[in-house]
Amino acid sequence: MPDTTSVQRYGVIGHPIEHSRSPQIHAQFASQFNLALSYERILAPLDGFASTVEQFFKTGSGLNVTLPFKEQAYELVGPRLSRRARMAGAVNTLWLEDGQLHGCNTDGVGLCSDLLRVGHNPEGKRILLIGAGGASRGVVFPLLEAGCELLHIINRTSAKAYEIREQVVALDPDASRRLSAGGLDDHCGDWDIVINATSASLNQNLPDLPDARYRSHSLAYDMFYASEPTAFMRAAQQAGATQSRDGLGMLVGQAAASFQIWHGLQADVEPVLAALRQDLG
Ligand code: ATR
Repeated sequence: MPDTTSVQRYGVIGHPIEHSRSPQIHAQFASQFNLALSYERILAPLDGFASTVEQFFKTGSGLNVTLPFKEQAYELVGPRLSRRARMAGAVNTLWLEDGQLHGCNTDGVGLCSDLLRVGHNPEGKRILLIGAGGASRGVVFPLLEAGCELLHIINRTSAKAYEIREQVVALDPDASRRLSAGGLDDHCGDWDIVINATSASLNQNLPDLPDARYRSHSLAYDMFYASEPTAFMRAAQQAGATQSRDGLGMLVGQAAASFQIWHGLQADVEPVLAALRQDLG
């Protein structure tokens, strides 16, 4: 039986929030360790993020932050940001330490752990990252940290890709040798891992991208997920990618990294991922 004498409160805050699968994921992680906790969905008004967070932490222990508040969470935390959050310019995990709000970003760690899980360690790889919005920004530094040989960001609006590169290099000058940027048609060479971080997948569209060249044993990874392979995954397989995956594993991976921050425990993602996949149909 779980210890119910001290049930800690956690939650995910966003707008909208009904779709969030985080409560299910964290409940399953908690049951792996017989932890008693509550994890709720919190709908913050668009103009009331900071006050909703403040109210929550009067009794709560930790919050995940989702769209559209990750940048506001970054501002709210101020100097107590982790290096990954600083690099991402966004926060998806909040907690209190000595009465002060702290923030981290676990999205990129979630991606890297999922790449490892599916047998594509980013270390030493040539990686093409398509898109330069919030989803892309959150994963750049962890991919570099994981030791990729080259990370090339391309975007429809090339200026945004260059901007991410500049910001990361300003914080970590060593990154300049391994990080490059360009427009969508600027992806010469061939790639071990091609990641779609554009929102085109949300509408089952493809980024308007000339076919990328895939190396042998390559992976096409769509950061979005669906009950069926996404348009990007299908196109990549036709273009020669050896394997394609969607981002459901990244979702569970980022949640596991938040769980680790809050509880100091490494949850087993496999059974949770299998249950979610089954729910997706
Ligand atoms: P998110 O936070 O999910 O990344 P975002 O910040 O709105 O969302 O960014 C969306 C990304 O998808 C951008 O890189 C966008 O390209 P632009 O910066 O040129 O707008 C990209 N995107 C969306 N639809 C696209 C499409 N049909 N083809 C190519 N890129 C697309």
